[in-house]
Amino acid sequence: MPVYHKLGKIPAKRHTQFEKPDGSGLYYEQLFGTIGFDGMASLMYHIHRPTQVMQILDSKDITPKIANAQQLMMRKLIGFNVEPKEDFLDSRVPLLVNKDCIIGLAAPQKSLREYFYKNADSDELLFIHKGSGTLRTQLGNIVFEYGDYLIIPRGMIYQIDFDTTDNRIFYVESHSPIYTPKRYRNYFGQLLEHSPYCERDYKLPSTLETHDEKGEFIIKIKKQNQLHSLVYQYHPFDVVGFDGYNYPWGFSIHNFEPITGRIHQPPPVHQTFQTDAFVVCSFCPRLFDYHPKAVPAPYNHSNIDSDEVIYYVDGDFMSRNDIAQGHITLHPGGIPHGPAPGAMERSIGKKEAHELAVMVDTFRPLQLTEEALQLDDGKYFHSWIE
Ligand SMILES: [Fe+2]
Repeated sequence: MPVYHKLGKIPAKRHTQFEKPDGSGLYYEQLFGTIGFDGMASLMYHIHRPTQVMQILDSKDITPKIANAQQLMMRKLIGFNVEPKEDFLDSRVPLLVNKDCIIGLAAPQKSLREYFYKNADSDELLFIHKGSGTLRTQLGNIVFEYGDYLIIPRGMIYQIDFDTTDNRIFYVESHSPIYTPKRYRNYFGQLLEHSPYCERDYKLPSTLETHDEKGEFIIKIKKQNQLHSLVYQYHPFDVVGFDGYNYPWGFSIHNFEPITGRIHQPPPVHQTFQTDAFVVCSFCPRLFDYHPKAVPAPYNHSNIDSDEVIYYVDGDFMSRNDIAQGHITLHPGGIPHGPAPGAMERSIGKKEAHELAVMVDTFRPLQLTEEALQLDDGKYFHSWIE
C-alpha cells in the first residue's frame, strides 16, 4: 500500500500479451484492487488462471459471540490468559467488536502450511508481541519479529511460518482499508518531514515464491463471518511478478519516532495508521515533557465519541498501576478516564517514559464477546477510587 513496489517479471506495458518463456502461451493477468477501481491496486501475473475452483466444501460460522452489546464499564482483560492453540485461525479469539472491526488476540503454536487463508472482508493488522517468522503471500514474503505490525490487505492469499511455538499476536480486522495517516503525506503520497516514520522503515514483500504445481489446494476464505473452504486446482502462489500499491507490508513499532514537547502531547502525535472507523497509535519509549512545571502524565480526558483500547506490550506504563504485558484496557466513550491515583504525582520530574503499547480508538462503540468477559478482571473500573 504505502509506495509503488514491484517484484519478479512483468510485461513492459500493462494489459498486453505476456508470453511464457517456454512458448506454452500467455501469463494470466489479475487486477488486485479495493474500493472498486478507486483504491489501491496491483497487477499480478499468474502461470495459471486464478479462477480454477474444483470444489466448494463446507462453511463454518465464525461470527463473534457477543455477550455484552451495550455497555459503559471500564475493563481490563488479561490477554495472556488466552490459551495457545496449534492452528493459526483456531487460535484467534475475537474480544471487542463493532460494525467496523474485530479486535482480538491469538497465540498460534504452529506454522500455517496445511491450507491457505484469505480474509475477503477485512484488511488485517497483526501486531507481533511474541515470536518471529515469515509471512508468506501471493505477492512475496515478509520476515517478521517482535514489535512488527503486519498489514495484510483484504483478499490477499497467505500462509504464515513461525520460528517457535511461543507466539502472541494482537490483531485487528478492519472492514475499511488500513492506511498511513493522511496528514503525514503530501499531495502525491510521500511521507512528510514531520511524519514519525518514513518509507525507509517499511518492510516490503520480497522473495516471491512461484510454485507451478497442480493438485488440490484448499483456500479458507473469510466472508461475512463465514469461513468457506474452496479447493483450487493450482498452487495459489503461482505469481511470476506484480507491481502496484496493493500488497502486504510491515512496519516495526521500534521504528516509530516519538514526537515530544515541553508540555504533554496529545494522542494524535502517536498515530500510526488510520481507517474510516478507527485509528491506531503507538506509545513508544520517549523523553518526557521538559517544561519546568510539566506534568508528564496525561490529563483526564473525555473520549466522548470513541472507545479507547490499549494493548500493553512492554515497559512501565506510567499512567496506570497494576498493568502487565498482554493486558488490554477498554475505556468506553461517554465517560472520562485518566491516570490512576498517584500516577500524576509520580510522573513529575521523571525524564523518560519506558512504555510500549498499541492503542486502537474506534469511532463506534465496541461490544464485548463471551471470551472477553472470561478475560475481564471485573474490578478495573474501581481503580480510580482513592
Ligand atoms: Fe485515554
